[in-house]
Amino acid sequence: MKSSFWWSNAVVYQIYPRSFFDSNDDGEGDLKGISEKLPYVRDLGVDAIWLSPFYLSPNRDGGYDIADPRQVDPRIGTLKDVKELIDKAHALHLKVIFDVVPNHFSDQHHWFQEALVTPSGSAERQRFHFYPGKDAQHPPNNWISLFGGPAWTQVDDGEWYLHLFDSSQPDLNWSNPEVRHDFEKTLRYWLDLGVDGFRIDVAHGLAKEKIQSDHPNPQELSDALRLDVKMEVDKRNSLLASVPYFDREGVHEIYREWRKVFDTYEKPILSVAEAWVHPPARALRYIRSDELRQIFNFDLLIAPFDAQILYDSISSTLTLFETIDALPTWALSNHDSPRLASRVGSEPSARALALTVMALPGSMYIYQGQELGLPDAHLEDSEREDPVFIRTKGKQLGRDAARVPLPWRNGNKSFGFTRGKPWLPIPPEWDGLTVESQEKNPSSSLAFYRRIIAQRALLNNQESDFHWLARDLSHGLLAFQRGNISVYLNTSPLDATIELRLSEKIRLTSHSNNQIVDSLLTLVSGSCVWLEK
Ligand code: BGC
Repeated sequence: MKSSFWWSNAVVYQIYPRSFFDSNDDGEGDLKGISEKLPYVRDLGVDAIWLSPFYLSPNRDGGYDIADPRQVDPRIGTLKDVKELIDKAHALHLKVIFDVVPNHFSDQHHWFQEALVTPSGSAERQRFHFYPGKDAQHPPNNWISLFGGPAWTQVDDGEWYLHLFDSSQPDLNWSNPEVRHDFEKTLRYWLDLGVDGFRIDVAHGLAKEKIQSDHPNPQELSDALRLDVKMEVDKRNSLLASVPYFDREGVHEIYREWRKVFDTYEKPILSVAEAWVHPPARALRYIRSDELRQIFNFDLLIAPFDAQILYDSISSTLTLFETIDALPTWALSNHDSPRLASRVGSEPSARALALTVMALPGSMYIYQGQELGLPDAHLEDSEREDPVFIRTKGKQLGRDAARVPLPWRNGNKSFGFTRGKPWLPIPPEWDGLTVESQEKNPSSSLAFYRRIIAQRALLNNQESDFHWLARDLSHGLLAFQRGNISVYLNTSPLDATIELRLSEKIRLTSHSNNQIVDSLLTLVSGSCVWLEK
């Protein structure tokens, strides 16, 4: 029997503040806007919200470039707004988790500004990774930024600083105790205000090794880290097995320190690591009993809509977690990935996948707009802001298409998100996708998500053992049982309906044509059902 916490089987709703709801008509979402719309989130039936960063930031990387982690960005609100949001969420029985970004600061943070005006070797520079180059023109090593281009930028006196992401995001030096103390202050600051936990950005990146050595294959490594680049599996695996700046032993000591901080609070604190690690078993090291509580499992975020691949991924995750006292996490989309409906090719398939995953044990992370079945938005290049687009000179489009503001109401160009000009345009064809139109329609994606989240909650209340049912993966059929529910998913392409003899009845279906007549289930392609005896 596993220990049980509020997060063990929770559904967590990710809010990207800039695009959620604008209360002051400046075209960008804000904290007051989130507070105003919390009843909408509560009505979805989720257990918690995760807020992407709202801290002081020049916004070169959507707020993940933080100029002061203990200050609220005035464009998004005030400290009072944060407190009100937490209190209102709690009154609605929603837990609140914040994003923290320990790998880097913005170059606008006063520490970095001080580092720029102090000499090589100064205490100010030692908060970051400043090094002399190999020679006057060449950086200390050949690492490539995850956003494209070199991972080093040279400052006026000739030294270089490391940035795994944009040049405006200098990496912090976690072997410096001052960095650790400052971060502990940040964690306590928000915990004292009442937050229930943290999502830890780039949690696998804080410890760097071989910082003055070249990587033998920097371009190949950079491709291996990009999941949209096809590469032979063994080659990718061998490249990912030892990235000098990811998943190094040093990160664990940091999380053991954080856990001690969390444990000084009376309520249990959720800590969830955004850590891409390889091989997958290494993920468990982040959630050892004296470290963090959860680690994101990104397998389904990138898996195609294919029964065999879904089976492999779900079964290997569940097997991995059998041996430890924690449950897995599942995510089908987030602010860094394409919208689910676009990635799997259609809104019906997106529903089918969501219904499948909703039945799994563990916690489920949903990204705002996923419940509306939003696709990626079409944007003009001139509208894109993502540093990935800018640094790769348009070779990679980046993530803006999944960050377009939510459409709330019908009737005008900004769909009730703002009375100003939305910071990214909302596609005019989203009329039928607004919250307003979906709330009126019982067969909408929104109505579907409300139903499946409610049913999931009932399932979690039971002693719900999981096991695989007879499956026909090569024909696109995936089936499993959890508690008194059996789940059947048909991933086969168009018009390959599957028929099965069963003595159950349909509890939930992602497609209105699925039916059981005379004990014969008809499961249309790209759909899923939950059955019960
Ligand atoms: C965040 C991204 C961000 C990057 C750098 C990620 O993992 O989720 O949105 O660009 O970290 O902070």
